[in-house]
Amino acid sequence: MQDSPILIIGKTAKTGLRVDQRLQALGYTTRGVSRSTSPAFDWEDPTTWRAALEGTESAYVTFYPDLAIPTAEQTIRDFFELAKDIGLRHLVLLSGRGEQGAERAEAVLANSGLDWNVVRASWFMQNYSEGFMIEGILSGELMLPAGDIVEPFIDIDDIADVAVATLTRPELRNRLFEVSGPRALTFAQCAAEISEAVGYPVKFTRITIDEFIQALREQGLPEETLWLMRELFTVVFDGRNSNPTTGVEEALGRPATDFSEYLRKVMDTGAWDRSGLLQQA
Ligand SMILES: NC(=O)c1ccc[n+]([C@@H]2O[C@H](COP(=O)([O-])OP(=O)(O)OC[C@H]3O[C@@H](n4cnc5c(N)ncnc54)[C@H](OP(=O)(O)O)[C@@H]3O)[C@@H](O)[C@H]2O)c1
Repeated sequence: MQDSPILIIGKTAKTGLRVDQRLQALGYTTRGVSRSTSPAFDWEDPTTWRAALEGTESAYVTFYPDLAIPTAEQTIRDFFELAKDIGLRHLVLLSGRGEQGAERAEAVLANSGLDWNVVRASWFMQNYSEGFMIEGILSGELMLPAGDIVEPFIDIDDIADVAVATLTRPELRNRLFEVSGPRALTFAQCAAEISEAVGYPVKFTRITIDEFIQALREQGLPEETLWLMRELFTVVFDGRNSNPTTGVEEALGRPATDFSEYLRKVMDTGAWDRSGLLQQA
């Protein structure tokens, strides 16, 4: 077991948090960073990067908001170069399936001279319970610019398990793991399964991409996020990622978690319990 802490870029991020918890449970020392930690780490402020990197040899890297944004490749390139200069040996990058920008960032890492892993993930199941779709679930109507295209959503507990395996098992180094869940579902099918689990109706309504972007604009989301959502729902969400992959099994020797098991876990957390909301109304 290595002496230096394993760096986690994205301590409060959905997967970063889980990777941190798993590594600590295994007895590893970790250093989780984000804008709200001390030292702070901000992708938009390269002067914050050195303090996070110094004294570490390996890192789990989640970029924010998404490797698809046009500036990501250069930012990632600068970051990897600094990491190498400082003496890091192994980086594990969380990437997104079917995104050209993400594939460019992956190539930068694979050609960096560092040991590397890429965990290239499909859409997170947890977007429904910890991300941008939770409000739609709680309100009983999920409105998205999506129709019949299916997505093999992945449980991010699986992503965290794969990331930890790559960080702790040297025999897995210098490999890309393309990870997804076992079942490809439409958003409407997910809403139906969630509705059955929670016991209240969750309706799926298809809207146009322009209506979706306008609704996000009215919520005050920044232009960069609006650009990203348009990119993800138009360019990337065209069916290219519809087939389930075997990355979880390749890394862990067990099948990926099914959406039904994810539903059971979320029900235990109470994240979709809206009794408090109804009392306030
Ligand atoms: N969501 C998906 O379905 C999906 C699928 C495949 C891949 N991915 C990849 O996962 C990553 C993000 O996932 P996510 O959208 O679900 O978010 P997330 O991992 O939950 O990350 C959110 C966290 O990022 C931190 N953060 C925000 N701005 C930052 C900045 N400028 N510098 C450093 N940290 C910052 C925030 O912590 P602080 O406020 O503490 O800074 C926040 O807690 C992206 O790289 C994306 O490509 C996502």
